[in-house]
Amino acid sequence: YTEEDRTEDYLFKIVLIGDSAVGKSNLLSRFARDEFYPNSKSTIGVEFQTQKIKISGKEIKAQIWDTAGQERFRAVTSAYYRGAVGALMVYDISRHETFENIGRWLNELRTHSDMNVVTILVGNKSDLKDAREVTTGEGKELAEAEGLFFIETSALDSSNVSAAFQTVVGEIY
Ligand code: GTP
Ligand code: MG
Repeated sequence: YTEEDRTEDYLFKIVLIGDSAVGKSNLLSRFARDEFYPNSKSTIGVEFQTQKIKISGKEIKAQIWDTAGQERFRAVTSAYYRGAVGALMVYDISRHETFENIGRWLNELRTHSDMNVVTILVGNKSDLKDAREVTTGEGKELAEAEGLFFIETSALDSSNVSAAFQTVVGEIY
């Protein structure tokens, strides 16, 4: 086989986690289809999308899993995390509570998955400048303390959305 064929075999499972309404589903729809839903409903169960990502000229397939932030809508936790090599841990910069809950999400991730899952802390809704409750510094500090990558994104205006996914996939690869 050629080098080209071989790289097509890469399929990386990446999970989206974080409180309800932080924008997980919209980050995925923005990334995979360049779509944004101003009135999206809570996810029920699990959805996933496979997206091709180019890393240093090579094509990699990322299978991105999205589930509900709300406990009662979530699917079986262990199955969700099984085989994941990357994670986007999302909070909403306009709701401090969602940032405070990151510790819990980290616990869950670390309980159910491999220690070396590449994880990025994502402060979403960076477009909501006047409503900001979590500073960029707070986000960075937590990420540093926990050994995570860090980025602020907006699924609404698209800023840094691909960068967030690219960072994770690039690091896995
Ligand atoms: P669950 O499925 O319940 O866990 O929520 P979720 O994290 O998937 O959130 P979802 O993507 O459904 O977004 C929740 C709400 O936030 C929706 O009204 C979105 O339109 C809005 N939203 C998502 N991303 C952004 C963003 O970057 N900026 C702004 N202003 N709104 C956003
Ligand atoms: Mg959702």
